Amino acid sequence: MKNDRSWLPGAIEADWIEGLGQPLPQALAAIEAAAQPADIPIVDRDSGRVLAALAAGRRRIVEVGTAYGYSTLWLALGQPPDGTIVTIDPDRERTDLARGWWREAGIADERITVVSAKALEAFGAADPALAGPFDLAFIDALKPEYGDYLEALIPRLAPGALVIADNVLWSGRVADPAVTDENTTALRAFDTAVLGDPRLQATILPVGDGLLVAGFRG
Ligand SMILES: C[S@@+](CC[C@H](N)C(=O)[O-])C[C@H]1O[C@@H](n2cnc3c(N)ncnc32)[C@H](O)[C@@H]1O
Repeated sequence: MKNDRSWLPGAIEADWIEGLGQPLPQALAAIEAAAQPADIPIVDRDSGRVLAALAAGRRRIVEVGTAYGYSTLWLALGQPPDGTIVTIDPDRERTDLARGWWREAGIADERITVVSAKALEAFGAADPALAGPFDLAFIDALKPEYGDYLEALIPRLAPGALVIADNVLWSGRVADPAVTDENTTALRAFDTAVLGDPRLQATILPVGDGLLVAGFRG
């Protein structure tokens, strides 16, 4: 039997949940305000809160796709205070802005290393910053490359690490077999492969644009 989801949060429940947590740090609000007019796609706030919760206790994190550093900052705020993040994005203009917001949030520069490169080239070049082992990997860059990011990440994961990927429902298109554009097809193949992958214990949370969460069996 399908679950009854009719009770799921409407605006009132969402506001109530929002009110329970820590107040939104000003730097996160500033990134949200900057990203929208610049048309920079960032995870939504609910997904950010999930990332922060899942980052608790995870000292070494790797992220593919930084943009303005919104998801990076949620992860950094959820991590232990001595945790570190390596985040990859070839767009230096975006990541330079991100650094300013991370500083505003009180995150020391040493905690976040930016690799300014295309992710698959950086992984292929065996950049020492990407050596691992990582306790959490977050994927949020080019949709047709998700599967290749995962394969590059697996040997760099600690046993029990989490792999999280954003946009895996792609506004509902992934679950609609009539939609066959490149991004949708790639995400559909990624979801199918990961949920059937014996190396991982995976599911998809219907949060934001769909967050895939997988534990690495190691
Ligand atoms: C969806 S945005 C990332 C949003 C960010 N994770 C957040 O939620 O705040 C995707 C980013 O991937 C970057 N990107 C594009 N091609 C890439 C590649 N080959 N490797 C890594 N990042 C790439 C883009 O420059 C863009 O900033």
